[in-house]
Amino acid sequence: MLKTLPATLLFCFAALLPAQSSAARFDMGTKEFRLDGGNVTYVFGVNPRGELQQMYWGARLADSDKLSPAQPMREVASFDPPYSTTPQEYVGWGAGLYVEPALKITFADGNRDLVLHYDSHTDKPGGLDVVLKDISRPIYVTLHYAIDPETGILARSATIESRESAPVTIEQAAAAAWALPRGQYTLNYLTGRWGGEYNLTQEPLQHGARVIESRRGSTGHQANPWFAVQSVTQPGAADEDHGEVWFGALGWSGSWRIVVEQDQLDAVRVTGGFNPFDFGYVLKPGEKLDTPIFYGGYSAHGLGGASRLLHSFENHNILPRTAKTAGQPLPKPRPVIYNSWEATEYNVTETGQSALAEKAAALGIDRFVMDDGWFGQRKVDNAGLGDWYVNKEKFPNGLKPLIDKVHSLHMDFGLWVEPEMVNPNSDLYRAHPDWVLNFPNRPRSEARNQLVLNLARTDVRDYVLGFLDKLLNENDIAFLKWDYNRNWSEPGWDQLPPAEQKKVYVAFTQNLYGILAELRKRHPNVEIESCSGGGGRVDLGILRYTDEVWPSDNTDPFDRLTIQDGFSYAYTPQIMMAWVTASPHWLNKRTTSLAYRMLSSMQGSLGIGDNIAKWSDQDLAVAKRLIAAYHEVQPTIVQGDLYRLISPRNGSEFSATQTVNHDKTQSVVFAFIHSTQEGRGFPILKLKGLDPQAQYTVTPIEGKASHNAPATASGAFWMNHGLDMDDNFRGDFQAAAFRLDRK
Ligand code: DGJ
Repeated sequence: MLKTLPATLLFCFAALLPAQSSAARFDMGTKEFRLDGGNVTYVFGVNPRGELQQMYWGARLADSDKLSPAQPMREVASFDPPYSTTPQEYVGWGAGLYVEPALKITFADGNRDLVLHYDSHTDKPGGLDVVLKDISRPIYVTLHYAIDPETGILARSATIESRESAPVTIEQAAAAAWALPRGQYTLNYLTGRWGGEYNLTQEPLQHGARVIESRRGSTGHQANPWFAVQSVTQPGAADEDHGEVWFGALGWSGSWRIVVEQDQLDAVRVTGGFNPFDFGYVLKPGEKLDTPIFYGGYSAHGLGGASRLLHSFENHNILPRTAKTAGQPLPKPRPVIYNSWEATEYNVTETGQSALAEKAAALGIDRFVMDDGWFGQRKVDNAGLGDWYVNKEKFPNGLKPLIDKVHSLHMDFGLWVEPEMVNPNSDLYRAHPDWVLNFPNRPRSEARNQLVLNLARTDVRDYVLGFLDKLLNENDIAFLKWDYNRNWSEPGWDQLPPAEQKKVYVAFTQNLYGILAELRKRHPNVEIESCSGGGGRVDLGILRYTDEVWPSDNTDPFDRLTIQDGFSYAYTPQIMMAWVTASPHWLNKRTTSLAYRMLSSMQGSLGIGDNIAKWSDQDLAVAKRLIAAYHEVQPTIVQGDLYRLISPRNGSEFSATQTVNHDKTQSVVFAFIHSTQEGRGFPILKLKGLDPQAQYTVTPIEGKASHNAPATASGAFWMNHGLDMDDNFRGDFQAAAFRLDRK
């Protein structure tokens, strides 16, 4: 603890990393904490009242720059108490607080007043821990800070500890609160629904609060725990390339809430963490509660700059590595997969899957994944979930013959599971009806004919870990697609005393993470996908344990352009699985060419999910050619810097993206036409992120550039003059793709 350091020791460097400099330091004179990383500086300090006050978050300041010491806001009116208007790092609900609290506690004696003041701090590599304590009661909150030296993205979380002699109840606990300078802003966030996830929603930030949340027990399709607040001169006019953006993403896969508020004095703060709705976490004497991590970043280069930072941070710092990629700076690009779901649904058999595997291998696919239907008495969705034994009618000799077949075709094998769920029509439920979330003597609401196992229970956790471990021990499985097809209802946990039952909101998700971590430890080369009826469980919490996600059950290639565009604001294309499926599409009945479907999926991590046994030789040839072309440029597409050149949102006539690899030696461009109108040609694409001095050769992957376009030109040419498409690039649902290679 540095609380007692002599005042003469001005700056104390907790960490100084040589490459991109990053540091956390404390100035005893001004009682100011400062974190620097990438192009970002974050400063907070202890004000004369003892509160921890945010002072600066933005573009990096000079090392020599000093801010004036933290001063609470003055009392503008008796209705604006400084306790409420001062931007505190982690404010307790007490005194007179009218904005979102970070922490709200009810004590055993009925006291509900919590006022947190600075107590002490500790340095740690790359960051620091700051301890706050209530002004009279032994409630300690340790705020954890770390800053990434490359991107300047901060990771913040809190540990709440009670040293009271009687239990206290935490009614609200944020991971962190972020404060922004007063100004005019556009708020960006992601909303959606099943089959329509990741809509970028943009609105002027106004006085009051915008609540983005899930009360569903998991992350949810309806909103995703990400926000970006962009400084604008005209509210509502967000800009892809310019302007200051503060953004954040919450790493939690249970119920969550982010509140973005602008107070009556125009101050803006963003508070996020556990959803306080129906929350009540009892801390017994000496117990602690760890909050999720809330990541926050800053970019001076618009929403595009913000997402490039997040993508890089996720790839370098969040996504797991296998034993084979341990210690590597980046995860391995995803194998190109085949998935059986849209081809065979539950009707999986050894012969049928083997036939599909042969076709898949001939296309150049790397991984064959058998989806739902292989276990228990699973014929449709009303039976079998929970009974994780191989169905003998479909696979008389177990999974081994199919897995051997897949291996003989030089692919690895993946399998679908939905571990947290049970059909009432299952042996598991008949044996353990008490294992599901429920309130005794109340109905149990089913969705998709299934109930949610209460993973917070130790016996359920052990069962789930046990069957998955056995499955992986007994079969040569490289990959699990981990599905989760409904949200919670009746979230009771009647094993615990009534006052403690709401712990389920924390313990369920902690056990989920625990199982994933243990499985990865025991099977260090197994990879996992997070799927929840599409994109219902994608967040920076689950992504610490899963290698990829399924963004949507909607595989319509045109709809996917918008879903993928929205997804890319928060998440890297590295994890964005995208399958090519049948035309006409089952959802929209839209007919599209195979090339269009392939290119739509090639913007992310490619997969094929159609019944390829029915494909014509011509289709097989197109897919084989494009899979080979994709393999060559995949690292650039999924791990490069992404530029959203033309957005597909709002039914846009055109859309285009470009990615550039980190050493600027390669770039890939995708261009899509929705429907040509009035004979309009595709806009000239002014490319971005290239080296202006270098020469780049353009090669079509699909489609043609204009006959006037040079084959080779400088980065300056492609960025300023631009890439012109062939005049015949017109029509409905057309697509083109190009690679640029540095000479
Ligand atoms: C929902 C998933 O999102 C689909 O891809 C598929 O795996 C089905 N569940 C299987 O039941």
